[in-house]
Amino acid sequence: MSTAVSGDGGTGLALQASGLNFSYADGHAVFADVSLDVRHREIVCLLGGSGCGKSSLLRVLARLEAPASGDIRFLGEPLQAPHPRAALVFQQPGLLPWLDAAGNAGFGLDFEHQPRLTPVERAARIEQALSAVGLAGHAHRYPAQLSGGMAQRVALARALAREPQLLFADEPFSALDAITRAEMQALLVEVVHRWHTAALLVTHDIDEAILVADRILLMGEAPGRIVREWVVDLERPREQADPAAVTALRLDILSALHALRAH
Ligand SMILES: Nc1ncnc2c1ncn2[C@@H]1O[C@H](COP(=O)(O)OP(=O)(O)O)[C@@H](O)[C@H]1O
Ligand SMILES: [Mg+2]
Repeated sequence: MSTAVSGDGGTGLALQASGLNFSYADGHAVFADVSLDVRHREIVCLLGGSGCGKSSLLRVLARLEAPASGDIRFLGEPLQAPHPRAALVFQQPGLLPWLDAAGNAGFGLDFEHQPRLTPVERAARIEQALSAVGLAGHAHRYPAQLSGGMAQRVALARALAREPQLLFADEPFSALDAITRAEMQALLVEVVHRWHTAALLVTHDIDEAILVADRILLMGEAPGRIVREWVVDLERPREQADPAAVTALRLDILSALHALRAH
């Protein structure tokens, strides 16, 4: 388990982005002048309708794509390429069918830009990550033997094995049934808190954002931009938060979404 926080230039920020612009090859602006920060250990949800540019923004923030202009800093340093202490989880778990759960959780630890680990350290990382997601007893199961929820747990373990300081997640639970989704939302909050990791979670689901976020950023479209921000000051676990306060926040977000659509 990682407790060390690397340097961040004294900002307290895991991620700092300013003035980001991005378009695909057709030149059409996907998002424009986006600035956002994620503090250490903070869970930020990027909420917006389908097609507004959330996934594109996440890919740029993780430096899987280059912005047309703007600045991205990770732990205080300019980010020019995907960083070993940033990890990604997507809607599809993307497991390799010929590797078991342990093999999939460790996949990526041996990439060139990752810090070198001894076999003992590597095995310990995998074991800790699988046990954090409740799969300690399933290390030797293959993807074909896993339910959708278990497969997504392995994907989360693969991210945790890197001991990330920031977890990027793009609608990671959208493909799961409602009960499994609720379990995974709770698990995400638990592991992020326990591993002292920050998270940037993309979602189109208002309830998911209210359940997990410390802060919600609402994204508008054409071009994508951040239009509102809410600090979610509700008791955790959120299932036990004041229902009136939850409803008030939900209605406020809904009305902001409706106002966006009316434009
Ligand atoms: N690889 C791509 N090439 C060209 N256009 C893309 C590509 N991926 C997404 N887009 C376009 O960019 C816009 C934003 O898409 P996306 O970032 O996937 O939004 P969201 O995740 O909010 O649904 C959409 O208009 C989409 O059609
Ligand atoms: Mg998307």
